[in-house]
Amino acid sequence: MTEERRGPLWGGRFGTTPAEAFERLNASIPFDARLAPYDIRGSIAHAGMLGERGIISGEEAAELERGLRAVLEEVEGGRFSWTLSDEDVHTAVERRLREIVGDVALKLHTGRSRNDQVALDLHLFVRDAAGRVSDALLRVMRALVEVAGANRDLVLPGYTHLQRAQPILLSHHLLAHFRAFERDLKRLEAACEGASVSPLGAAALGGTPHPVEPAITAREIGMQPLVNSLDAVSQRDFALDLLYALAVLGVHLSRLGEEWVLWTSAEFGFARLDDAYSSGSSIMPQKKNPDAYELMRGKAGRLIGNLNALLITLKGLPLGYQKDLQEDKEPIFDSVDAVLAVLAVLPEMLRTAAFDGKRMTGAAGGFALATELADFLAARGVPFREAHHAVGRLVRRCEEAGIPFEQVPEKELAAAHPALADLPRELLTPMGSVANKRSPGSTSPASVDAQLARAHKLLRDLEA
Ligand code: ARG
Repeated sequence: MTEERRGPLWGGRFGTTPAEAFERLNASIPFDARLAPYDIRGSIAHAGMLGERGIISGEEAAELERGLRAVLEEVEGGRFSWTLSDEDVHTAVERRLREIVGDVALKLHTGRSRNDQVALDLHLFVRDAAGRVSDALLRVMRALVEVAGANRDLVLPGYTHLQRAQPILLSHHLLAHFRAFERDLKRLEAACEGASVSPLGAAALGGTPHPVEPAITAREIGMQPLVNSLDAVSQRDFALDLLYALAVLGVHLSRLGEEWVLWTSAEFGFARLDDAYSSGSSIMPQKKNPDAYELMRGKAGRLIGNLNALLITLKGLPLGYQKDLQEDKEPIFDSVDAVLAVLAVLPEMLRTAAFDGKRMTGAAGGFALATELADFLAARGVPFREAHHAVGRLVRRCEEAGIPFEQVPEKELAAAHPALADLPRELLTPMGSVANKRSPGSTSPASVDAQLARAHKLLRDLEA
């Protein structure tokens, strides 16, 4: 960025140019330059509307559009020269437009304010970002379904209180994350919908005497027109919707990341990451670290922080554009970039990981099968509380006598409760327990097959 000093576009009533330190504080161009393609798109729609409504001539509108397309080419080709004295992206584009098409550029801003422009640019950015994040998330969901399907019968312990609770299928576990991501897609869609109302036509806050038609500009960019000009430039709800969707998605990713950090530890030993998705230590030669999953967990903090930052920026603002709103952009860009960076890594990282089925199944046996025994008794008419107590005693007895639960002798079973004498030994295995589940949505292979079929259909529909 160059630092050539020019007077600001609003300089008419000012006796001097801005102080350098103030200019630096005031300028948003170092971060809002990335909104240029959206800004230009909005300006093309606005110029077309001005022409259509006879506010400027058809030739003038065409000339403005030609110039704006030339500016867009410069931006996209990396040839646009950004300068701090332009203050913001809106001014920079208009300045360059004038250099290209001459004084007709001075008519573009009729019936429009930078307040409308910045709101519109952000609407367009949020809508676009919600779509890009959704697409990237779909690729993660596709990978989850593939890995779940390829490992349909691997059993691992399900945990509560991080204590082994009951055996479950790995595929069921992965599909639980899939469900969370389904809800994330809905939230992203809501953000996209919220961002699809155009603020063009607000003319700073109260409308304009020019016969502008918000419906024309809105149609041009595929949005609904504003209903209230003051609300249109004041509200950032759509941005909050996106930051909320990304914060919740970040929390989901963080929880998944935490599990993989555990699973890839020597203590769990359930999974190994491909070398391409892990890193080493500068001092301990043996280390293989799950950095990507740790970063996934770490980034959730920033995603939550960015949502808070915008909520706090907004909470004290009266209606109308306030310069505080300039603080809305960086948290949004940061959250979008962080989430996209993580989502780009995840699908292949999931696909290339290797599971240690023996370790998983080993951990899923033993006392994790105790509920199965209690349920067996309850199904035979023993009140569940009594069954729970009897099996609890058996667990204690096995613990004290050092008897492996899966090999508990028949006489110990019968001693715990007479009805346990007929227990099919199959129920004392992790897969036997999983296969014994009956309830809809359970971890049984039949339920997981139904979930897999549903997930495949959902992905097909969404990808189409
Ligand atoms: N740079 C400003 C922002 O990011 C653009 C809107 C400026 N409007 C104004 N009246 N100063 O919010």
